Amino acid sequence: MPGAGDGPASLSHPYLLFNWSSLHLWIPVLVLKTIKCKAAVCWKPNSPLIIEEIEVAPPRDHEVRIKIIATGICRSDEHVLSGELTYVKFPIILGHEGAGIVESVGSKVTGIKTGDRVIPLIVPQCRKCRCCLNPESNLCCKNVFGNCDGAMNSDCTIFTCRGQGVYNFLGTSTFSEYTVVEEDSVAKIDANAPLDKVCLIGCGFSTGYGSAINTAKVRPGSSCAVFGLGGVGLSAIIGCKVAGASKIIGIDINTDKFTKAKECGATECINPKDYDRPIHEVLAEKTDNGVDYAFEVIGNIKVMVS
Ligand SMILES: NC(=O)c1ccc[n+]([C@@H]2O[C@H](COP(=O)([O-])OP(=O)(O)OC[C@H]3O[C@@H](n4cnc5c(N)ncnc54)[C@H](O)[C@@H]3O)[C@@H](O)[C@H]2O)c1
Ligand SMILES: [Zn+2]
Ligand SMILES: [Zn+2]
Repeated sequence: MPGAGDGPASLSHPYLLFNWSSLHLWIPVLVLKTIKCKAAVCWKPNSPLIIEEIEVAPPRDHEVRIKIIATGICRSDEHVLSGELTYVKFPIILGHEGAGIVESVGSKVTGIKTGDRVIPLIVPQCRKCRCCLNPESNLCCKNVFGNCDGAMNSDCTIFTCRGQGVYNFLGTSTFSEYTVVEEDSVAKIDANAPLDKVCLIGCGFSTGYGSAINTAKVRPGSSCAVFGLGGVGLSAIIGCKVAGASKIIGIDINTDKFTKAKECGATECINPKDYDRPIHEVLAEKTDNGVDYAFEVIGNIKVMVS
């Protein structure tokens, strides 16, 4: 992704037109133009992402256009690439773990302005619906998970590539130099926040940390097992540690993950391949018949059942 000061290949900056109908009355009208930039386009499942020149439409009412500075890769992007998420439509621009700078805002946008540093959100926060008003939930009724044909996903008018509309992913599509997001799906962040690090808050960190702190409500002194030590698993470990768990066991078939897991707070790491019996039996032995909290962070139903 380009640096903050770079411009896109053919960005026409917004400019002001003046209404000359009356010499005494000048009415400024903001005209935003389509941007041409680069994006990683996924044309069909099980095929590589292609870096393409795309067109990004101007933001409409209640939308903002963001220059993406950094983006992470979540395993959920890979689930789309491998064709496992069958409801997703192609071609699509994936990526949902980004951070950037607001390039322009559509009309009726009130809380965000050009130049703000932001994280696009896969779960909007309208702050008005019954879920947003419920302190036990943050799954805003405008979320696209239950309605994958929801407004932005089925709307091919934001991105165009080779004359064809390209689908948006989870209302964010951060594998693009520019993206358009609804105002409710943007969190304004500190102007000094390092965008290459805070982008992880867009999915992996919030998912893992939140599952320990908000969903499981891990208690001090408890024992926890975290299956899968990727971005989400490491964040779950951090959550367990912050919650005061005294035993945090990281489990992964890739031993290279253990050093980072211990830095994040795992008290012990084990590799199921080192044992000739089911891993839940190993855990039961280590924890007086089982852990208090178990987190499945691989995406493997068999592990969840075990
Ligand atoms: N809100 C959500 O529901 C949400 C958000 C983010 C990610 N996810 C899902 O969470 C899962 C993890 O995401 P991630 O980005 O951290 O993935 P990742 O690929 O970075 O990490 C997965 C880890 O699991 C390990 N692993 C694979 N098979 C294993 C096995 N049989 N036993 C033990 N370890 C095994 C891998 O070695 C890897 O370290 C994915 O399925 C992703 O789709 C869900
Ligand atoms: Zn994700
Ligand atoms: Zn809401």
